[in-house]
Amino acid sequence: MRREIAFLRHGKPVRLDNPSPTLTLLDYLRLIERATGTKEGCAEGDCGACTVVLRRLVGGRPVYQPVNACILLAGQADGAEVITVEDLADGTDLHPVQRALVERHGSQCGFCTPGFIMTLFALYHAPRAGPLNRSAVNDWLAGNLCRCTGYRPIVDAALDACAGAAADRFTANEAAVRLALAAHDDGQDLITGEEAFFAAPASIASLAGLYLAHPDAVLVGGATDVGLWITKQLRSLPKIIWLGRVRGLDAIEEEPDAIVFGATVTHQAARPHLARIDPDLGELMRRFAGVQIREVGTIGGNIANGSPIGDTPPALIALGATLALQRGQGTRSLPLEDFFLAYGKQDRGAGEFVRSVRVPKLGANEHLRCYKISKRFDQDISAVLGAFKLTLDGARVASARIAFGGMAATPKRPRAAETALRGVDVRDPASWRPALAALAEDFTPISDMRASADYRRDIAQALLTKALTEIGGTPTRLTRVVGRREDINAAAS
Ligand SMILES: Cc1cc2nc3c(=O)[nH]c(=O)nc-3n(C[C@H](O)[C@H](O)[C@H](O)COP(=O)(O)OP(=O)(O)OC[C@H]3O[C@@H](n4cnc5c(N)ncnc54)[C@H](O)[C@@H]3O)c2cc1C
Ligand code: FES
Ligand code: FES
Repeated sequence: MRREIAFLRHGKPVRLDNPSPTLTLLDYLRLIERATGTKEGCAEGDCGACTVVLRRLVGGRPVYQPVNACILLAGQADGAEVITVEDLADGTDLHPVQRALVERHGSQCGFCTPGFIMTLFALYHAPRAGPLNRSAVNDWLAGNLCRCTGYRPIVDAALDACAGAAADRFTANEAAVRLALAAHDDGQDLITGEEAFFAAPASIASLAGLYLAHPDAVLVGGATDVGLWITKQLRSLPKIIWLGRVRGLDAIEEEPDAIVFGATVTHQAARPHLARIDPDLGELMRRFAGVQIREVGTIGGNIANGSPIGDTPPALIALGATLALQRGQGTRSLPLEDFFLAYGKQDRGAGEFVRSVRVPKLGANEHLRCYKISKRFDQDISAVLGAFKLTLDGARVASARIAFGGMAATPKRPRAAETALRGVDVRDPASWRPALAALAEDFTPISDMRASADYRRDIAQALLTKALTEIGGTPTRLTRVVGRREDINAAAS
């Protein structure tokens, strides 16, 4: 059992002895270390000004994770090297990313600049299958906002700096850092105190025992929701159990007809696997927050938070996913849709945690379509999300599984519309009308800042029409401007 949180800074170990369980990495850097190069803008993971990079060993290989320090707990840096904007230049020699930003005039007031530099530093080190293009850079920078320079010079700088293979002093010292990080990976449970603590169990058995003993603790996957309880709601959370060190909880298991995602699989890690099930799921994950959130936010957190507008639950419900829960040594499984009981209420007992979710692949004659509607295209939460799985018998719908987010207090299936779809001809729009009418009766959506009830009802019908049009294969008009399935397939091949 270890008592201190431990990470590397400038190649040297830092040990935090019984810090506040909710100390954020940004507060550690700015208030304790006085490394004020990292900025605080929104304090809610939206603007990217606070981006720092965690260098970790994953499968023995160093990876560079861009993260939002404002909502990341300091304890989540355990076992990693924390790299900030102060660390990049080598004396007076700027890092290639910094040099390119200077040469391309990529900074004006400069408040956003440390965050951009760190996100680009992670891109500089990210493995790449082919040459980098503008659209890939735009995706990578979706979590960084600049309000005065404009993005063109920043994207130009990224293309200049990240064109070739990484060759900086961080690649040069990788062998030494690999050893130092491996030494940090002690496999011990971490718990910083008795009454109030930050804990990071190292195994599923330790997690199960600890959570059973402290069912009042808050589980943390990536803290991309929980972080905001701290910075925005100013909640005091005396007991935190972080799942990021639990061995095996981040496993991705391939079965012939399904993929099983462990609860702590991050959105970034899940993305290519979901895209293999269907390109629309890849597109959904591309638009899931920005890279800093996807790097730490987990599938388990997206389900367990019980949000009616979480992106993965409707898509996984449409696919017929099953959830595995564990309490102590006991496990049970249930259809994902049954987990969501009411607004803010899930079928999860005290001391019980999400262990994994099993996502069926598509069978022959099964077609999926999934659409996210949000006010801002990038880095925005859904107003409505519709996911449609149709099983066809020729051109007729043999069965339909549909799930919506944003239409009710929980992610929900429109049962009347599903029934009305049976037997309709996907090539004959006139036959769709009863299902569209039934869909309007299935939900009583609310009006809020994201969308009015009328808009939600209209868009749900529009999305079903779009799914039938696309699956029917005879679109009379262009159905997509971006995220075209053929483009996603081509990019993946
Ligand atoms: C800027 C920003 C953009 C975002 N964009 C999107 C978006 O596009 N789409 C979207 O759906 N969401 C979005 N989110 C919300 C958030 O990122 C996701 O819900 C994410 O999946 C949460 O995962 P996490 O691991 O960070 O959860 P955490 O914050 O760690 O936890 C969330 C909740 O789940 C519980 N929990 C976590 N893991 C488990 C487990 N294994 N078992 C039981 N309980 C558990 C926690 O106790 C907590 O109640 C965004 C958030 C931010 C800050
Ligand atoms: S301060 Fe805006 S993302 Fe952290
Ligand atoms: S340079 Fe001013 S916000 Fe980006």
